[in-house]
Amino acid sequence: MNKTALITGAARRVGKAMALHLASQGWNIAIHYNSSDAEARLLVDELISVYPKQQFELFKADLNLPEEVELLIPQVIQKMKSLDLLINNASVFEPAKLGGTTTGFLDRQMNVNFKAPFILTRNFAQLLKSGVIVNFVDTRIVTNQSNFAAYSISKKALWELTKMAALEFGPDIRVNAIAPGLTLPPEEKGEDYLLKLAEKIAMKSPGGLDPILKSLDYILNNDYLTGQLLFCDGGENLGIKI
Ligand SMILES: NC(=O)c1ccc[n+]([C@@H]2O[C@H](COP(=O)([O-])OP(=O)(O)OC[C@H]3O[C@@H](n4cnc5c(N)ncnc54)[C@H](OP(=O)(O)O)[C@@H]3O)[C@@H](O)[C@H]2O)c1
Repeated sequence: MNKTALITGAARRVGKAMALHLASQGWNIAIHYNSSDAEARLLVDELISVYPKQQFELFKADLNLPEEVELLIPQVIQKMKSLDLLINNASVFEPAKLGGTTTGFLDRQMNVNFKAPFILTRNFAQLLKSGVIVNFVDTRIVTNQSNFAAYSISKKALWELTKMAALEFGPDIRVNAIAPGLTLPPEEKGEDYLLKLAEKIAMKSPGGLDPILKSLDYILNNDYLTGQLLFCDGGENLGIKI
């Protein structure tokens, strides 16, 4: 029987790439989205036409609202009948130093990037006997740069959750994290933006989607891997070249 994955924020960018990738390997996909209604519908139509024997369903939820997050895993299980993989990919990435971070701003970063994965992980473990969870953090978690202070703290917390959940929910549920670096430029910026930033990292170029998809495959294919962090950052976590 085909396995089923829930990918949060799957309508666009990294989430969409993972949906297409897993679908090509025979997975059924629960496509979570929030505001990207049109993109999500286009994606589901494309997947159904290419893989007509697999199941693809849309699930809308605002991950800034814990009451909507609470419903997501039960809704997916009800509609898809099973769930084997949760990918916590959805994220908000907004700049502000500590001094400029209001409590409302902090709440939004923590709700979407940390609290939602926390609730989804707990519900996954409560409702399912086994499976795999993959959390998307960021190579920034090794630094103390504060230009995206609340975002960075939310991702540091998500990495701590990854390890704690791996210990508590093993051996039936494996929990690992992927830390992308220079992958896709923010929407309003072009590829030049990443090329410039990449000049000082070990690999001297942005990674694109391929390292992420390879890391996802590695996690899925390695049954003994849990509580681990795979950096997909061309060595950015090592620091910058001088
Ligand atoms: N891109 C990079 O270079 C990079 C670098 C380091 C780390 N990462 C991490 O890798 C992951 C994927 O990156 P990405 O650039 O593809 O992410 P992204 O485009 O910034 O966000 C992915 C999705 O998150 C969803 N989202 C945001 N707020 C939400 C909310 N309130 N409720 C529900 N969903 C919400 C959005 O869904 P809708 O569009 O449907 O609203 C969005 O499409 C993220 O966790 C990111 O932090 C990425």
